[in-house]
Amino acid sequence: MKFVKVAADQEIAEGGMKGVEVEGQEILLARVGGTIYGIEAICNHGYAYLEEGGLEGFNVVCPLHDGCFDIRTGQPTVPPCSEPIRSYPIRIEGADVFVGIE
Ligand code: FES
Repeated sequence: MKFVKVAADQEIAEGGMKGVEVEGQEILLARVGGTIYGIEAICNHGYAYLEEGGLEGFNVVCPLHDGCFDIRTGQPTVPPCSEPIRSYPIRIEGADVFVGIE
């Protein structure tokens, strides 16, 4: 796994989300409780960009059918989402955010 710089730490406010693309992988970053997490950016129930939905606590709410995933793990938490989406390791170095990809 390698870590790729994707954003500046200050670009992601508390309770905020930001979509990034790294080597063809679309990843959603979000900050909750001061920590930045990363999961796949696209809902696997239908096809929707989660960045266009909302963030409620650790739940990322899909804009299409209101299903949710846990931003910490990619696990589905509210139906109709039922299959996990990928979770990415995040590393902060100085003022930069790095995502770990295969
Ligand atoms: S497309 Fe996301 S819940 Fe249906």
